[in-house]
Amino acid sequence: MQTRKLGKDLTVSAIGLGCMGMSHGYGGQDEAASIKTLHRAVELGVSLFDTADAYGPFTNEELIGKALKPYRDKVVIATKFGFRIDPTKTDAAALVGLDNRPERAREAAEASLKRLGVETIDLFYLHRHDPDVPIEDIVGAMAALVKEGKVRALGLSEASAGVIRRAHAVHPISALQSEYSLWTRDPEGEILDTCRELGIGLVPFSPLGRGFLTGKYRNASDFAEGDLRSSLPRFEADNMAANLALVTLVEEMAEAKGVTAAQMALAWVLAKGDFIVPFPGARKIPNLEQNAAAADVALSAEEVQQLDDMLSPDKIAGARYSAGSAWTPRR
Ligand SMILES: NC(=O)c1ccc[n+]([C@@H]2O[C@H](COP(=O)([O-])OP(=O)(O)OC[C@H]3O[C@@H](n4cnc5c(N)ncnc54)[C@H](OP(=O)(O)O)[C@@H]3O)[C@@H](O)[C@H]2O)c1
Repeated sequence: MQTRKLGKDLTVSAIGLGCMGMSHGYGGQDEAASIKTLHRAVELGVSLFDTADAYGPFTNEELIGKALKPYRDKVVIATKFGFRIDPTKTDAAALVGLDNRPERAREAAEASLKRLGVETIDLFYLHRHDPDVPIEDIVGAMAALVKEGKVRALGLSEASAGVIRRAHAVHPISALQSEYSLWTRDPEGEILDTCRELGIGLVPFSPLGRGFLTGKYRNASDFAEGDLRSSLPRFEADNMAANLALVTLVEEMAEAKGVTAAQMALAWVLAKGDFIVPFPGARKIPNLEQNAAAADVALSAEEVQQLDDMLSPDKIAGARYSAGSAWTPRR
């Protein structure tokens, strides 16, 4: 697997693995199956693994720590904090607001270190910035953890360009984790330019549109009860039908090229800059294998342009989050 750099200090596989779905949001799966998938990822050369205290909550970090223990020196473990979490609840119901108090950074890091069973968190992200807390204060507290060796590198998730700049002035930010895919173009322009200029890696989450861009999910009824996607506007029946017509075009283009729609979607993100490292979520080994192979799919400039136009933002039906969702960035 080719590698790419995130900031100055982290070198990771060009395609990472998002681990959220193994314990959160999409129905999870049993631990033994997840461990097999995680071990297969290491075998394939995947070295960036993404989790968060919010996933489960907490159980996803425990899973990652357990599964990756034998491979500690081969992997980069990224985790996140920043939500106020109700430990008595699961999935989205457990996220009851934001907690960006500077002292929370230390508490969260120490708890994550324990759950992961590691001495250092390789990449520690602020999951969502609370605009009521100056970014300088919370990043200052995160920077103190780097000094102490508890954290290796810092990241932000879904931050605006202005917040990225202010944070980077306090301590180098290695990675920005924001949603970016064929159907979510929000980072294009100011955010991509800022990352490129400051040498910050962009780590796009949900690069497969939460699975939709693979063509595998075709109806709202494809999701089991409680699946987080059922609550997202883009997955409402009418929006999904309109968006599916666009995905069908991607499937046709992929078939003509001899790849899958998932691989097309990942190759497109990779083609947007060498500082970009998508990390699709996959519980199932065949999905993981297909995604890892996308690192070798090259798109021509014409193909990238064709995809740009095929799924331009004006054609996408539905917002990515519903108003008032815990995940909606506050800016
Ligand atoms: N910072 C944030 O706020 C934030 C928000 C959301 C997610 N994330 C992170 O981003 C990671 C990735 O995003 P995501 O999991 O939401 O969405 P995604 O990567 O866009 O899609 C994951 C979905 O696609 C399916 N899939 C994966 N590869 C496939 C393939 N080749 N063919 C068919 N289906 C395939 C998966 O199925 P199976 O699981 O069944 O294999 C899963 O249902 C998460 O795991 C999480 O770590 C971060």
